[in-house]
Amino acid sequence: MGQRLGFGVIGVGAMGRIHARHLASRVPGARLVAVADVDDLAATAVAEELGGQAYERDSDLLTDPAVEAVVIATPRAFHKQLVIDAAAAGKHLFCEKPLASTVEECTAAMAAAETAKVKLQIGFHRRFDASFSEVHDTITAGGVGALRTMHMTSRDPEPAAGNASRSPADLILETSIHDLDMARYLSASEIVEVYAAPVAAEEAGSLEGVLLQVRMANGVVATIDNHLHSAYGYDQRVEAFGTGGMVSIGNETPHRATVSSRSGVVEPLPLRFFEERYDAAYTAELAAFARCIAEGSEPAVTGADGRAAVAAALAALRSLEKGTPVRVEGQGQEGALL
Ligand SMILES: NC(=O)c1ccc[n+]([C@@H]2O[C@H](COP(=O)([O-])OP(=O)(O)OC[C@H]3O[C@@H](n4cnc5c(N)ncnc54)[C@H](O)[C@@H]3O)[C@@H](O)[C@H]2O)c1
Repeated sequence: MGQRLGFGVIGVGAMGRIHARHLASRVPGARLVAVADVDDLAATAVAEELGGQAYERDSDLLTDPAVEAVVIATPRAFHKQLVIDAAAAGKHLFCEKPLASTVEECTAAMAAAETAKVKLQIGFHRRFDASFSEVHDTITAGGVGALRTMHMTSRDPEPAAGNASRSPADLILETSIHDLDMARYLSASEIVEVYAAPVAAEEAGSLEGVLLQVRMANGVVATIDNHLHSAYGYDQRVEAFGTGGMVSIGNETPHRATVSSRSGVVEPLPLRFFEERYDAAYTAELAAFARCIAEGSEPAVTGADGRAAVAAALAALRSLEKGTPVRVEGQGQEGALL
């Protein structure tokens, strides 16, 4: 392999720090050359730990010639503009989910990358997880016959941002969006309709969870169960059922020992949270991104994937408001976004 690609990470909070650490130590074809954060202490601390230049201003990172690709890991409100600015600076783009907060913003971000002829990949890391990939590959190979239904569970041990509850937009655009992407990925079809039932939190206007029923263009129906407090830890499961069988994945645990005694049978709790559960997937998604830049191929998760998930998330939010199923706006006959 030739020269490793120089990466800059914009936003080094919880997720950006994980990406920066992986880029600095173990993503094939990549190296960390810079980080930026409006919190200059955060940027400096990460650069001191991992190496590279620390910037307080994003624009300074974007004019650094050593930065060839950027990872955008700021809160979602800044994603669209950062994609546009980084594309204009000629940097390849890995953007954390959600790509943006509206379909129009997603389209603008995609257009900027296309005009600048830079790659744009979205951070749907579950597509790179070995177990989710196995479910996908089994379905694709016809292992469950004709796919009929899917049940997805994503429950956090505690809210990622430390809040006891979340606004509907935060819950759907930050958490459910992973499952909405999985519904598209596993069924190889587009989401045409979403019905969302809220699980209200004590704080008015906030949610502890949501149950989504999702209808795909190819007739598959999926349920998504999201919750912010799971007493037994991070719960990440999928079941896909078809005419020829079923494929499912359970939770991953720190070890596989089961202790049996007179008082019961004890198995370990699931891996603590996203950093532990998806450690390998976070590295794999960046490795795939570096590879697609080196090879000049299409990213495995495109801007269009990011936009389709946002369109479905916005339909879920409208469904919460209306209390009825809502069609995903902008879908054509086959479900493709117009
Ligand atoms: N794929 C995953 O599993 C996963 C997990 C967690 C978060 N995320 C995503 O990562 C992104 C960040 O989430 P987080 O939990 O790390 O948030 P966070 O609040 O922990 O960190 C965000 C960081 O961005 C910085 N920041 C804010 N505005 C900025 C700007 N304009 N320029 C530069 N820095 C800026 C903040 O100072 C902070 O350090 C979100 O899009 C979130 O959805 C993805």
